[in-house]
This record gives sequence, C-alpha cells and structure tokens, in this order.
Amino acid sequence: MSAARLLRPVPALHGLSKPRDRRTVACLLASLALAVSMLVVPATNAPPAYALDNGLSRTPPMGFNDWNSFGCNVSEQLIKDTADLFVSSNLKAAGYNYVNIDDCWMTSDRDPQTGRLVPDPVKFPDGISGTADYVHSKGLKLGIYEDAGTQTCAGYPGSLGHEAVDAQSFADWGVDYLKYDNCNNAGSTTQQEFIDRYSAMRDALAATGRPIVYSICEWGQNDPASWAGDVGNLWRTTGDISDNWSSMLSIITQNATLAAAAHPGAWNDPDMLEVGNGGMTDTEYRTHFSMWSIMAAPLLIGTDLRTATPETFSILSNRDVIAIDQDPLGKQGAEIVNSGGRHVFAKPLANGDVAVALFNENSLSTTITTSASASGVHRGPAYLLQDLWSKKQTETAGAITANVPGHGTVIYRVSKTHDWTKFPPATALSVDKPAAYDGGPVVVRPGLAEHVGTTLTNTGRTPVTHVRVALTAPDGWAVHPTSPTRSKHLGTNRVWSTQWSVTSPADTAPGTYTLSAAAKYRWHRGEGHGGHESRDRADSTLEVLVPTPPPVGSPWISDVQWTSASSGWGPIEHDMSNGEQAAGDGLPITIGGVTYAKGLGLHAPSDVVYYLGGHCSSFTSDVGLDDEKDSNMAGTVAFQVWADGALVAESGTLTWADAAKTLTASVQGAAFLRLAVDPLSDTNSDHADWAGAKLTCT
Ligand code: GLA
Repeated sequence: MSAARLLRPVPALHGLSKPRDRRTVACLLASLALAVSMLVVPATNAPPAYALDNGLSRTPPMGFNDWNSFGCNVSEQLIKDTADLFVSSNLKAAGYNYVNIDDCWMTSDRDPQTGRLVPDPVKFPDGISGTADYVHSKGLKLGIYEDAGTQTCAGYPGSLGHEAVDAQSFADWGVDYLKYDNCNNAGSTTQQEFIDRYSAMRDALAATGRPIVYSICEWGQNDPASWAGDVGNLWRTTGDISDNWSSMLSIITQNATLAAAAHPGAWNDPDMLEVGNGGMTDTEYRTHFSMWSIMAAPLLIGTDLRTATPETFSILSNRDVIAIDQDPLGKQGAEIVNSGGRHVFAKPLANGDVAVALFNENSLSTTITTSASASGVHRGPAYLLQDLWSKKQTETAGAITANVPGHGTVIYRVSKTHDWTKFPPATALSVDKPAAYDGGPVVVRPGLAEHVGTTLTNTGRTPVTHVRVALTAPDGWAVHPTSPTRSKHLGTNRVWSTQWSVTSPADTAPGTYTLSAAAKYRWHRGEGHGGHESRDRADSTLEVLVPTPPPVGSPWISDVQWTSASSGWGPIEHDMSNGEQAAGDGLPITIGGVTYAKGLGLHAPSDVVYYLGGHCSSFTSDVGLDDEKDSNMAGTVAFQVWADGALVAESGTLTWADAAKTLTASVQGAAFLRLAVDPLSDTNSDHADWAGAKLTCT
C-alpha cells in the first residue's frame, strides 16, 4: 500500500477509490466549491486532517506481549521461544499471530552518527531485524514498543521529535506492529497535544510504506475513544492491568461504556491478558477471556507460554470464544443489563447470531437473566443456546437465564432455531439464601438451623419431567428438606422451589463453605411418538461464610481479620503503605507529611470487608493518597465506608495535593463493615491509605 493512500485526507474522499467513485467525487467537489464561494468562510491555515485507514486489524489483533509476565526482562530468546510455541501448541492455528516486544529492548543512547535507536546487543544478539526474520520464518509477525515522549516508561530513548527516523528503523527491521506509550510526554495535557503527538507517529509509519499496526497507549487519559480511531488501529482505554480481580473488574467497567467507538480497524484496548499469571482463579480467567472477546478487545497473551498449564492453554485456545472476538462484523458488545453486580453484554455477529455474556461481578453465585429479544436475536419459534465453555447446547423459548458462579461468566452464542425438539430444554438451578447485603456474603451461623432454598427454572419449549433435587453440604453438616424434593412436570418458564434446613456443627471453623445442589430430570427428544425420553441435569453451588468472632474493645482495623479483601496493585499492607509488588514492601504510612503507625496501605480499586456481627458502634480513619508520589502525580481516589448496604461516610475526590481527611461513621448494629476505595477516572498511582483506622466495639 502506498504512502499516498495511507495519508489520504478525510472525510470527503474517505473510502472512495474506484473510478466511478472518483467521478462522483469530482462532481461533489465542483458543487462544493460553488456552495463555498457563495458563503462567507473564515480563512484558515489549518493543515488537512488525515485519517489512519491503513487497512490493518480488520479484526482485533491477537498475539503475545512480554510485559505482563516479564517486565523489563525481554529477550530475543523469549520472543523466538514464544514464536515456536505459537506454532507447536496450535495457538497460531487458533489465530494468534503477533509476537510483540514491550519496553526495555534498546540501549540507553541513540547511535551518535545516525540518530537511530540501538537494540540492546545482549538481549537481542541478532538485533530486531534478526528477531523479525525468525518470527517471519514461522509465518508470524513481530511487534515492538516505543513512546510518544522523551523517554519510554522504563527510561529508554523516546520517539518524540524522532518519529521519522524511528518509524524508518522499524520498517527497515521488518516490524509489523507498534505499541506507542505515553510516559515522559513533555508535559502535554490537552487533547490536541495528545492527538498531535500520536498523529506524528501515524504519519511517520505511513510514510515508510510498510503496513504496521499502530497501537496507541495513552491509558484512556484524553478520551481516546473520541479521536483515536483516526490515528491508530487500537487505543488503550485504561491504566495498566494487574493480575487481580479488582483491577480486571475496574477495567471492564471503564471499557464497557465505549462500545460505540469500535469498528473494523479501530478497537478499544482494555490492556493485555493476564490469563495464566496466577493472581486469579481459572473461573476469573475465563471471565477475563470471555469479556475481552465480547468487547472485541485485542487478545494479547501476557503469560510465559514456556511454563503455562494445560488449563491456561485451554482458555487461550477456546476457538468458540475467539470467534466471538474475531467476528468480521466488528461490533463491540454492548452492556444491556447492569444491576447489583449482574451484567449482560450482547454482541451482534456477522451471521445474524448474537453472543450473550452473563457476567457475575459478585463473589457469590447468582442467577442472571435476559431474553433473546433484548439481546437482538432475530425472532424465531425457539432459540439455540451454545454454551461456549461447557459446549452444551440447549433450547429456550426466549428467556436466557443461568446460575453464574461468583466472578464467573456464562457466554452463549444464541441463534433462532426451528429444530428445537432436538435439544434439551435450557434450565437454571440456584441455591438461595439472602446475602447480608446486596453483593455481600451469605452468613451461616455455627450450630444454628439455617433456612436454604433451591429453585429450578425451565426456560425451554420442551417440559422437563420426573424432576428430583438434592442439596449437599460439607461433611458433618445436617441437611433436611422441609418441602417436596420431587416434581412430576415443569413446563415452559415454570419455576419450582424446594426448602431445606441446613445446620453446621457448633464448632465449625470460620471460613467459606460450599452448598451444592443437583436437579435430575427427563425430557422428550424429537416430535411425537418418533422421539424418546432423554435424561439431563442442572447443577449449582453457593458459597457461605461462617464468620470470625466479632471484634471487641477498640481495635485498630489493621489488627482485625477481614472476611475478604482486594486491592488493584500489590497485596494490602498492614501498618505500611502499598509498595505495589511483594507483601511488606511499603514505607511508613504518610499523608501530607504526617506519618501513622497503624493503618492499611493499598491501591485502588479496593474493597475490604470485616464481620462486626452487630457488636460495634463506630469507625474512624484518616484517609488520603500516600505521599510516595510517582513522577506522574496522577492519582485521584474516593474513600467510602459502608455499614451493610448503607453508605455511612465518604471522602469525595482526593488527589496527591490533598491533606488527610478524617472520616467518622456510625456502624451501629451492622453485620459487616466495608471499606472501599474508588479509583475514579484512572487506575494509575492510586496509593490509598486508611491511616490510623479504628473501630469502637462492645
Ligand atoms: C506503560 C504501559 C505498559 C507497559 C509499560 C512499559 O505502563 O501502559 O503497558 O508498556 O509502560 O514500561
């Protein structure tokens, strides 16, 4: 593709290249000139606007990037090993083709003669060019990293002001993909300054004539969804992901609202995958992969494939989920339900099917419901639901409902069907006991008979018959039904519940326990007498909390055991600030020059929950961003104190510049105290402290 084509002005000529189109354009331009001559138009010297339109990334890029698992320890060997593994493990066959190098691949100085960037000769003995040759020989493509600033984030020479020579180096070396970062950006703040810095590299890449996917990495700071489609093939929408649930969840929340900006060649980028890195459960990694796919996000593997487990390979290689991400229609799934931590996303697909993700942000299993019509599926007599993880196929009369495990996602490909009698009816089973508050834990008190329900819903057109339900609890717990456990017949959209009494031993240790339910039933396959009885089942679990004894006296919060805790970066520290990496790597908690001996040091987004059991009356804490500012001085957060479901104190927005704020709240009668820190618009540098935090209890 020629540079001239790449640098085409927009919008008038956009997309018109056939001769017939050019004639139309000539006519349009003539009438436009006439119209313009009749108007009073202020003179402008503004250069023409250019669009990207490089014809690349018609579906979201798929590949690997070393940063999430190796940081600065990138090397030619790692890139070659990864390329080999793409081939040998069938990831290449599944669609992964870019092997991308992140920061730290170069030396600290440009070549004094040529002004060119110099690959680190120790890390890359064959240079980027030799590495690219190897990757290309495997039928794969090579990506590289630079920065729209004076230095990269790790302090290597940046490309600002060197765009032409650097783009030429990349092209000469055979680079196929550039990730372009935003550190040390010479103090640029306005959107126009961002557009200018990123457009300079777009135009430099185009001028080389080599097709190079252009990935903008400005962390969602200047609303890139509103302009980056004309500049790059993809653009980061958030701060850096980290390998934990709250980081990933906050990224989903931020990226979900931007669906309208995505289209073939232009994608929202919620950052690279953490699947396999160990900080989340496999259920959470399946959610990560499902949600990235339904949001048409780039799928860039961020784990060490040389040591990845079979489960990691099986998640990354799920071709049914990859097909949702790579669907040629190129729409990002839109969020159609968001209520109490229950989310539904729907993504229209090229063949008329719709992908539907039922995503549970809470830690307890819950039933999530939508319908074929709300998801935008063409109207049919019934609908086929293909569960893209379990591979089970069921039919529904219209309702789409599933019991989704805590932090889990059920993702279906939904299509209308006339063949519904061949498929088992879709059912959902749940174990029900009210949570202490919406999204909170379900409490089971040791030694007391607790009431639990099970509910089976049949959404299929075919009835289920001969239904039997069973509930099981950990060894030593007593479980008795208090209503019938059998039902003869459950028709379309019928719901049937059974009541149970569940008693744990009086000396049950504090912790989380699982209640499991199973419903077995029959259904009639095929029509009339030609068919036959088949068997099927539905399963469900509920995690319940046997709480710790409530606190007594006036303890520091850092001396009380939490029931659950999450932090955006690094472990939550007791009595020190958050060092972002290992446990115990913080500094003394310091806000506005004042140090505190006691407290929690964490990184937003964060959520820490304590069991009070109604025994405490008040909570007080100084809150603020820790003084250990980074070079960006970017963090902004808001602190919230919740007593069960009620917000009882909040800080409002706090930045690096603010002194500590004192929050005092009544927690009288509350079963649970929840300390939440909201990262607000970005997740960078949010080192948040609950300083001198203290409870008053009986
Ligand atoms: C920034 C980017 C990351 C990574 C590092 C490298 O933080 O957002 O994805 O590229 O820089 O230094």
